[in-house]
Amino acid sequence: MLALGGAMVTGGAMGLGTLTTFILFSQRVFDPLRQLAERFTQIQGGLTAVERIGELLEQPIEIADLPSSQRSAAAMVSGEERFSPGEVEFENVSFAYRPDDPILTDLSFRIAPGEHVAIVGPTGSGKTTVIRLLCRLYEPQQGTIRLDGVDIRELPIATLRRRLGVVLQDTFLFSGNVADNLRLDADISEADLERLCGDLGLAPLLGRLGDGLATELRERGGNLSSGERQLLAVARVAIRDPSVLVMDEATAFMDPSTEATLQRDLDTLLSGRTAIVIAHRLATVEAADRILVLRRGRLIEEGNHRELRAVGGLYAQLAELQEKGLATL
Ligand SMILES: Nc1ncnc2c1ncn2[C@@H]1O[C@H](COP(=O)(O)OP(=O)(O)OP(=O)(O)O)[C@@H](O)[C@H]1O
Ligand SMILES: [Mg+2]
Repeated sequence: MLALGGAMVTGGAMGLGTLTTFILFSQRVFDPLRQLAERFTQIQGGLTAVERIGELLEQPIEIADLPSSQRSAAAMVSGEERFSPGEVEFENVSFAYRPDDPILTDLSFRIAPGEHVAIVGPTGSGKTTVIRLLCRLYEPQQGTIRLDGVDIRELPIATLRRRLGVVLQDTFLFSGNVADNLRLDADISEADLERLCGDLGLAPLLGRLGDGLATELRERGGNLSSGERQLLAVARVAIRDPSVLVMDEATAFMDPSTEATLQRDLDTLLSGRTAIVIAHRLATVEAADRILVLRRGRLIEEGNHRELRAVGGLYAQLAELQEKGLATL
């Protein structure tokens, strides 16, 4: 008993060290096992995702080119042309993503070639949806959308998308130099790119970047301000020379001095081209030839900044709030 007790005492004294060692080593054994189990769950999740992607890829494409036998003569002629004046028309357009939830209701407007139009409205009012319909990512349930007088359903999708240059709310820049970011897949020589940038009035921006077109960008353009990123995104679209430039403006905060420079550069980029800007900053809206105000998918006001301020409706309220710095448009 004593011997046993002695052994236990000895065991106890040794025990603390041994126990610690035991616990540490058993963690080393079990951690990889636990990690293995976790990876297994992740792999299974991945396999399910692959299956779902497969299902999506097999979905039939609903929006396709009309066979040429069903296209009007005017559409055939227009469809062959790469360039066009850039006139946009929505006629009694109604649209819903889900049958019971109308997003746009009886929307009609016409944008003349070369005109700059700003679309404003509260969040969820359908501004981005207007752009999606114009690009034919969705098809309206009612009404007609025309580009240069031709129903967009009758234009080859490739032609339509070449004529529209779209800059989305969040721009994507990758690591590499500015020239690569502007050029993407287009076959434009270094000299041509420089000339195009000069024509588009990008010299001041490129000057600010330090190394001009050769400036190296970090992942997602991390070493640029949000205004500069936005300008590069617009420039990337503008060098492709679209007839209509569409821009879903970033809501990101900008300080007033950058804002003034940004607006000047933007005006130069957009000059001589039809432009539709979903605007969140008063400066962009004030510069537009015409403002369309949307509320719950309906066009409720239309006119330039001065006219709409005088009307004293929704736009006047929104503009006043922004002037006081309380909200963006
Ligand atoms: N793919 C979709 N499926 C179903 N509903 C959608 C889809 N996209 C948008 N919606 C809904 O349509 C309405 C209009 O959305 P839209 O994106 O056009 O608004 P917005 O005016 O651009 O808003 P914001 O100023 O916030 O960008 C919203 O209520 C939105 O929830
Ligand atoms: Mg939007």
